[in-house]
Amino acid sequence: MARILGGVGASHVPAVGAAIDYGKQDEPYWQPYFAGLPAARQWMADSRPDVCIVAYNDHASAFSLEIIPTFALGVAPRFEPADEAFGPRRVPSLVGHPELAWHLAESLIHDEFDLTIVNEMPVDHGCTVPMSVMFGQPDEWPTRIIPLCVNVIQYPPPTGHRCFELGRAIRRAVESYDEDMTVVVFGTGGMSHQLQGQRAGLINADFDVTFLDDLTGDLQRLVELPHGTYLREAGSEGIELVMWLIMRGALGDEAKEVYRHHHVPTSNTSNGLIILEPA
Ligand code: DHB
Ligand code: FE
Repeated sequence: MARILGGVGASHVPAVGAAIDYGKQDEPYWQPYFAGLPAARQWMADSRPDVCIVAYNDHASAFSLEIIPTFALGVAPRFEPADEAFGPRRVPSLVGHPELAWHLAESLIHDEFDLTIVNEMPVDHGCTVPMSVMFGQPDEWPTRIIPLCVNVIQYPPPTGHRCFELGRAIRRAVESYDEDMTVVVFGTGGMSHQLQGQRAGLINADFDVTFLDDLTGDLQRLVELPHGTYLREAGSEGIELVMWLIMRGALGDEAKEVYRHHHVPTSNTSNGLIILEPA
């Protein structure tokens, strides 16, 4: 049987990817953020998951306004880094896990989550930056990766409650996969930030710390947070946080926090990194 070892919540700030790619981690601006990564990478190195299921969002790289899937599951054997206007990041391609991905598709769709199934999907910073955060700069990513792309770009995004329930269904799907393997689920994006309009630059670290606390505290409050609260408190792009609830749902009723790093700011956002394990 496959089992979920843990969950990672991680921001996906593109400038963090660039700082890694161009060796800027030791610069004074970046040092305090990167100082928090070795312990998280150690947890990942110790855990050695066979597969990571990564809930992330595309930023009009793979999908444009022509097609906007709410939840798109990548079932391909490989996914290439997207060209986000400056050429693709020079990071390894993702090696997928088609067998588990098709099992997820079958289990989740029969569980009444109407996912879009995707065979070709370049992955942008939303997915590749959290990989770099957790794995550094290997020649190949040391895990298979199943990307699960969530629409948080074009209104209406899914509710946090729907994301949480999808996470719970992912847990059921993984636990019904008839092969011994270990899985880590990522929820990426966020935390508070707003990149556009009059409130561009908004950061609300208090909201973010309470969000981190409530992943193992008042979870029901988080699951029920309406879109308007994300918009008001965490800015227009803070809605990316609903993807963290997919990760949290995949851990089961009780979870414990094993690591947290929160640094404000990196680029335009309050940068959060959390590792949880099923309790
Ligand atoms: C930034 C954050 C994002 O989530 C993103 O997709 C793009 C930019 C930023 O903080 O600069
Ligand atoms: Fe983003």
